[in-house]
Amino acid sequence: MALYSEKVMDHFRNPRNVGVIEDANGVGEVGNAKCGDIMKMYLKIEDDIIKDVKFETFGCGSAIASSSMATELIKGQPVSEAMKLTNKAVAEALDGLPDYKMHCSVLAEEAIRSALDDYRKRKGEG
Ligand code: FES
Repeated sequence: MALYSEKVMDHFRNPRNVGVIEDANGVGEVGNAKCGDIMKMYLKIEDDIIKDVKFETFGCGSAIASSSMATELIKGQPVSEAMKLTNKAVAEALDGLPDYKMHCSVLAEEAIRSALDDYRKRKGEG
């Protein structure tokens, strides 16, 4: 069996929503101290709906695939739904990740949570 699913390979090779949103109103950056990988998420939220999301990931292939999939899962969603996104859901949407790569999907969950927290703080809800 291949180590990585086709979806992981696809999102690694052609990551969706890579880049920066200059006028983002929610930005979050997280890192994993063990592997040194870093992920940054930018959210453009209007009326509590995620209109646009972009990411920059300096990390492994699974981290890139996880961030790409995570952005697709939350785009167009209300903030309340995006808050519920778990790393498990990201990994499942990718048709699975090897056990020792699950922490890469945790990074995606944390980056989105951190960007949403930033948005709420800016709104005065934090
Ligand atoms: Fe650290 Fe993938 S090896 S995020």
